[in-house]
Amino acid sequence: EKAGYKHFMLKEINEQPRAVRDTTLGRVSLETGEIFLPEMQISQQEFKAATGITIAACGTSWHSGLAGKFMIERLARLPVDVDYASEYRYRDPIPDATNLGLLITQSGETADTIAAQQELIRKGSKTLAICNVVGAAITRAAQGTITTNAGPEIGVASTKAFTAQLTALFVFALYLAQQRGTITPEESLHYVTELSKIPAKLEEVLRTVDAQCCELAKSFSTARDFLFLGRGIHYPIALEGALKLKEISYIHAEGYPAGEMKHGPNALIDETLPVVCIATKDPADPSSVLKYEKTLSNIQEVTARSGRVIAIAVEGDHEITQLVEHTIHIPAAPELLLPILEVVPLQLLAYHIAVRRGCDVDQPRNLAKSVTVE
Ligand code: F6R
Repeated sequence: EKAGYKHFMLKEINEQPRAVRDTTLGRVSLETGEIFLPEMQISQQEFKAATGITIAACGTSWHSGLAGKFMIERLARLPVDVDYASEYRYRDPIPDATNLGLLITQSGETADTIAAQQELIRKGSKTLAICNVVGAAITRAAQGTITTNAGPEIGVASTKAFTAQLTALFVFALYLAQQRGTITPEESLHYVTELSKIPAKLEEVLRTVDAQCCELAKSFSTARDFLFLGRGIHYPIALEGALKLKEISYIHAEGYPAGEMKHGPNALIDETLPVVCIATKDPADPSSVLKYEKTLSNIQEVTARSGRVIAIAVEGDHEITQLVEHTIHIPAAPELLLPILEVVPLQLLAYHIAVRRGCDVDQPRNLAKSVTVE
């Protein structure tokens, strides 16, 4: 049932090219760039009139929501708030009929996320869902669900469900942009074409980085703490990298926005601290290059204090290899699609470290696959 893999988690990490392909299939036209989501029970008029989106989710799904904020704001020019579902209803939120709620949940049964959806509905918002389980509770109360076709996930630490969520969010952001008229047909076609290349790029990442992550695990599996840094859409991926490591290896890890380090956490850096920096860029996108350059100077602040940097960078970036101890290269892609690729080495790093530490990666202590209590 593990198809020759030692753990479900490793099998599921390797299923990500298929999960992303199946979440895209039938929803995009590679001829016109058009997005089809017939499951939406919200009219184009309502999408046009929307004033904002509230995303509520937990854990890994919350991280995909944070990345989704960048996709939706950039493509559909609609402000997005991202809440922890467990916090949402306790802050007396102020949504209304022009606000759309979006629940992101792998299981569709998470109690906190159900409660956030009920609060949204009670306050007059319509809700949509991104869910990996057809017919789950949250999908039944939603006015449209984008099903992530990741297939059942057995490992408690979410991997393929996460990349499938990122894919669904990207498709939804494009759909919203087309409904609202904030994107040209040429841009749509460009993005859809790039999305269709992601599964093959994921295959390449899986082929090229596994041995390197296994090797890195040898040097870093005894670390007491880890930091993960990223800027912009890469910040939620830093959070996800830290969560993966925490939950399966029990090493304390934190994700931080790269630019926040100088406001406090720099005090933590010494020669024992591994710092994973996501420093990817889309060379064709000036705003991405600008963020990358800022991140490079943040990396220099870490290396100047003897922190041990593992950088995630795009192929052909040799500037960064001069600066840091280790670089993991991934294929280039438009900025909004890079998260799907860059999370894979973080998953593999957590996996190999946990295995070296003798942890039960598929069944971490104190955790359950589906959290049905608030
Ligand atoms: C971490 C993980 C959890 C879930 C969270 C929400 O690897 O899987 O953080 O993401 O419990 O679960 P769902 O997505 O089922 O609502």
